[in-house]
Amino acid sequence: MRCTWLATAAFGLEGLVKKELTELGFSARAENGCVRFEAEPAEAFRAAMWLRTADRVLLLAAEGPVTTFEELFRLVRGCPWQEFMPRDAAFPVSGKCARSRLMSVSDCQAITKKALAEEMMAYYHMPWCEESGPQYPVQVSIHADHARITLDACGDALNRRGYRTWNGEAPLRETLAAAMILLSPWDHKQPLHDPCCGTGTLLIEAAMIASRRAPGLTRSFLMENWRMLVKKDADRVRNEAKAAFTPADIPRITGTDIDPNALELAGRHIRQAGLESHISVSACDLNSLNVPAPAPLFVANPPYGERLSDRKTCEKLYHGMREMVNRHPGSRLCVLTGHPGFERAYGRRAQKKRRLYNGRLECEYLIF
Ligand SMILES: C[S@@+](CC[C@H](N)C(=O)[O-])C[C@H]1O[C@@H](n2cnc3c(N)ncnc32)[C@H](O)[C@@H]1O
Repeated sequence: MRCTWLATAAFGLEGLVKKELTELGFSARAENGCVRFEAEPAEAFRAAMWLRTADRVLLLAAEGPVTTFEELFRLVRGCPWQEFMPRDAAFPVSGKCARSRLMSVSDCQAITKKALAEEMMAYYHMPWCEESGPQYPVQVSIHADHARITLDACGDALNRRGYRTWNGEAPLRETLAAAMILLSPWDHKQPLHDPCCGTGTLLIEAAMIASRRAPGLTRSFLMENWRMLVKKDADRVRNEAKAAFTPADIPRITGTDIDPNALELAGRHIRQAGLESHISVSACDLNSLNVPAPAPLFVANPPYGERLSDRKTCEKLYHGMREMVNRHPGSRLCVLTGHPGFERAYGRRAQKKRRLYNGRLECEYLIF
């Protein structure tokens, strides 16, 4: 059954998600906040398994213009839900509304739930929906009077690769770290070093990219419990992903940081990713960092400095990064920063610049 799918992406990453999908063999179209593609369920599962920079893969069940609750009801009721969902499907409904006539999220959720439940009860001849089976999380999303009704194929967002211990710290998102590596000039052969490695996200994502390890290899996806995805097809996608992983291809990947607590977490994440024989981290102030030859590509997400006093400290650190690069002839630096004065403090203009968002914070990705 060929369906339309949306790979959702953080603002600014749609183009990269489209490129990833194209390289996976899909014909894809970038839109605001997502990339649309058509695929059989097994192929969509392959996309969810391999996409490094997308947030989620959603099945687009219905879409159309809506300005009244009646229109929304008809849109949902008119969708052939039974093609997607079995009689015992659980279908929690979430919602979001922006710049539309229908702006009450709770009402839109309730209407969607009612219409969907009525359609399921009518088709399966049930007096009510038990919802005791597999999860099909529904989202009604209305933007500029255009509604999209989607089913979440992932469960946990795609950045949850399975290697991170979630303990409240706010590290770089895995999807953004992967984007930084994919947008860098790294050839997967040169050594790579993160001089502010924190909890190790950039290092792990780089090693996964160099070894063609599918980011979804060690996690599960909701759609693996969906009727439309045949088990033998899902197994084939997983087995192909397992076979593609070639850890011998990982070049020297190292990281340093001044914070021992962050390094302890980095060590734990690297072990949880099963990459401890390929990535090493140690304590070092970048001002005294000396990485053995050959010169590495430095990739970093240094502190930005929220307050003015912190900003001054950061500017010194950025100047120190220039000296670090100078101590390593042949090295280059790629840096994600939310500090508008990075280039001034660093003392050079970047060769390439790209606007990226770290959460809600507008940042620049600078390549020197
Ligand atoms: C924004 S965090 C990096 C987060 C990291 N990318 C992650 O995924 O967890 C910035 C890091 O720079 C480190 N740092 C600050 N000053 C440093 C210095 N002089 N030398 C090395 N690391 C430093 C901090 O300890 C912190 O871990």
